[in-house]
Amino acid sequence: RAANIGVVGLAVMGANLARNLASREGNTVAVLNRSRSRTDELIAAHPEAGFVPAHSFEEFATSLARPRTAIIMVQAGAATDATIDELVRVFEPGDIIVDGGNAYFPDTIRRERAVRQTGINFVGAGISGGEEGALHGPSIMPGGSDDAWETLGPILRSIAAVAEGEPCVAHMGHDGAGHFVKMVHNGIEYADMQLIAEAYDLIRRGTGKTPAEIAEVFAEWNRGELESYLIEITAEVLRQVDAATGAPLVDVILDQAGAKGTGAWTVQTALSLGVPVSGIAEATFARSLSAHPEQRAAAANLPGPAVIPDPADHSAFIEDVRQALYASKIVAYSQGFDEIRAGAAEYDWSIDLGAVARIWRAGCIIRAQFLNRIADAYAQQPELPLLMAAPYFAEALGRGQESWRRVVIHATRTGTPAPAFSSSLAYYDGLRAERLPAALVQGQRDFFGAHTYQRVDRPGRFHTLWSGDRSETEA
Ligand code: 6PG
Repeated sequence: RAANIGVVGLAVMGANLARNLASREGNTVAVLNRSRSRTDELIAAHPEAGFVPAHSFEEFATSLARPRTAIIMVQAGAATDATIDELVRVFEPGDIIVDGGNAYFPDTIRRERAVRQTGINFVGAGISGGEEGALHGPSIMPGGSDDAWETLGPILRSIAAVAEGEPCVAHMGHDGAGHFVKMVHNGIEYADMQLIAEAYDLIRRGTGKTPAEIAEVFAEWNRGELESYLIEITAEVLRQVDAATGAPLVDVILDQAGAKGTGAWTVQTALSLGVPVSGIAEATFARSLSAHPEQRAAAANLPGPAVIPDPADHSAFIEDVRQALYASKIVAYSQGFDEIRAGAAEYDWSIDLGAVARIWRAGCIIRAQFLNRIADAYAQQPELPLLMAAPYFAEALGRGQESWRRVVIHATRTGTPAPAFSSSLAYYDGLRAERLPAALVQGQRDFFGAHTYQRVDRPGRFHTLWSGDRSETEA
């Protein structure tokens, strides 16, 4: 029996994706893993899936119908390259290799170029939704050629999550576009998580509520405009009690956040594209800051504010935090979409930003009601220069900004670190400003380096003779 799709790499994500594929009408799934035992275990545990097991790349290639299509679900990096080499060895022109891992998009661009030389298609596809998503329906962000997408589209549509009747998968653009979009998805994920964590911390310190009580606040928020998977799971985490100590689990978890690198890539890429993703950067740095116990110990005795005023009205304060969270969230998504727009221009991808919002509505970690509003904004104005300035978001920011400011003031006065809240507000005010002190920076640059400046009143580039008579010359 010939399989129409294969999966290489059967750790949890790969195994779940293979089971998802097998559960859809019309699919027969070939499976291969480096260690034979895992393949055998999967086959034994899921006889209903009708998997076609392979124990070598040759056997795997033989078991697939043409054009052969294989999804690689191995660790990003060297393991991916090794697997691609093996598949290229046994596949033929016209076949399709899909990398479903969290690859760094420049690697995907490089791999696509190399594999293309052999006539085989290579598609880097971002897959979001964790283990559950892989099994029941992830959000999928494929790159690669139009030809590959033609074969791959129906298969991926069959396993993707569905949002309002639409499968959460769309062709993002050629070569690395899919992994680029997935990278930014993760950057936004970092920002969203950090903002929620700051909201929790502000409420806890400001009102003295217990984690279980704050869980109820999040559960309530989840019924409004903040409705999202991350808010929902936050309530679950805050409700959890540690069996060993009887304490809230959040109080016994070591407060040092891990990161596997996708947030850092988002920020590094944004820096080179010149896109200010300050909220995402702060979220990434907040994880790094937390993970330096020696520095935290060294700083522990540095003085904090003398007076720590408690908010007088707890429910008004909580509402302020909710508004601040929503406003900062708008900024984080606006920054993320800005990075995708800039990346598309730089790498010559035609990425449909509305489609990105639509395929993130279900299946992925940042799934939220909110993404419908983003999709609407791009539907109304596909060339939107700044997401947060679209009418719906501008209105929401206008409504929330006073609360946002009160929360940032409160955080500052009480010494509660809220880097993502405050940097998002600074970004908002920075873009809003009629004049920026960037003019002074230009003056400084011209002073020490003759870097020249432009004038507000006429075209051209100018230089002041700082060490001479300080007259102005046209450069
Ligand atoms: C997803 C997630 C997933 C994963 C990342 C981020 O979209 O399903 O983003 O890809 O959780 O690896 O993990 P870190 O927080 O460890 O960087």
